[in-house]
Amino acid sequence: MWQGRVGVLALVVVAVLAGIPMCAAGGGGGGNQLEVYSWWTGPGEEEGLAAMAQEFESKNAGITFVNAAVSGGAGSNAKAILASRLLANDPPDSYQRHAGLELEDDVRSGKVQDLSALYDREGWRDVLPKGLLDNLTIDGRIYAVPVNIHRANLLWYRPAALDELGLAGPPKTWAEFLDQAERIKQAGRTPLAIGPQWTQKHLFETVLLGELGPDRYERLFAGALGWTAPEVTAALATYQRVLSHSDLRSASGDWQPQLDRVMQGTAVYAVMGDWVSGYLEGAKKQRWQQGYAAVASPGSDGVYSFLSDAFTLPTGARNPELALKWLVECGSTEGQNLFNPRKGSIPARVDVDARLYPGYLGWALAQWRDPGTRITGSLTHGVVANNAYNAEIDSALGLFNQDGDLGDLAATLDRTYEATR
Ligand code: GAL
Repeated sequence: MWQGRVGVLALVVVAVLAGIPMCAAGGGGGGNQLEVYSWWTGPGEEEGLAAMAQEFESKNAGITFVNAAVSGGAGSNAKAILASRLLANDPPDSYQRHAGLELEDDVRSGKVQDLSALYDREGWRDVLPKGLLDNLTIDGRIYAVPVNIHRANLLWYRPAALDELGLAGPPKTWAEFLDQAERIKQAGRTPLAIGPQWTQKHLFETVLLGELGPDRYERLFAGALGWTAPEVTAALATYQRVLSHSDLRSASGDWQPQLDRVMQGTAVYAVMGDWVSGYLEGAKKQRWQQGYAAVASPGSDGVYSFLSDAFTLPTGARNPELALKWLVECGSTEGQNLFNPRKGSIPARVDVDARLYPGYLGWALAQWRDPGTRITGSLTHGVVANNAYNAEIDSALGLFNQDGDLGDLAATLDRTYEATR
């Protein structure tokens, strides 16, 4: 334990020196304190969590919610720090994980506890979509409580910018995007805003989805389609061209500054998940289809590439009783209706009142519920690839940014799937 504490202390020091804001240092739980770990610190991320935390405290008198969030979109810092805490047997009382293969890693390595009894008690099997439950279940046991459904394959823009540029509408394919990009550049603007490496990976999966279609996209990440197959190398080449029309070389900041450049008009489009709507509606006071708009990213109309934020009960949590109360809040109708409108996501539960979700979220909810919609899963946000494979893809993309060698990228990715199974 002492060893663990030293490890955590070292990490906290590293985080502070690196300028990574942490809401609470490790070990905030204990007694009547509940330590909840996530990466929801920035505008558009923290408001939903705060609303749920407040309701949790009001329903559970005497318990303090300790917010242990670590900043950095997509958990870019939080996941590494969490991994060290788990290794040091110093888990928070509950932590954020994505449904899908990312969670499965923790289950297989015994880091999280079975929540099937809680599901039975709360009747959640009847109010969550089967596809989502499948992504939380391993060998018949359920291991996390989802708060939401996010959509990853979206192209965001400002309608007025398209009018100013004389563009009839957002591009429906990546080829059309590349055509528009030339016109946009001639008008002195950047076609596509981009942010740190995880946002590039988010773009990468989106281009692959649009170019390959959902079946081949899924086969690719399941190891059934090789990275050196001609259609995949063609899609990788498209990704390279798309990225060359972004502000990659000058971009700074996380996904919020990426979207700020679209809203300010220096850039025209951004590919990002729908946490954008929480940010633009909340912090930026913009309205759907007036100040901002989104369509399915090029080539992916009718496809909903989903991800889901879920909370866990870690093995060795200091306060499992309080953690279970927190999980009840996460799974409740009230909790989800407080969280999701602020977060820019739709509820995981199927039994919520759709009228609480106007604007962008109304559109998202209708698409999610439409039986004709093809649902697939995000790479960057943990659904279709495990952590080891995701980490290898990160390294390969980092290298590709330096050398731009597509052949190398395909060959490396081809090798990594087998190596990370
Ligand atoms: C995702 C997460 C979302 C949102 C996003 C940007 O991984 O699931 O809830 O936080 O990162 O930070």
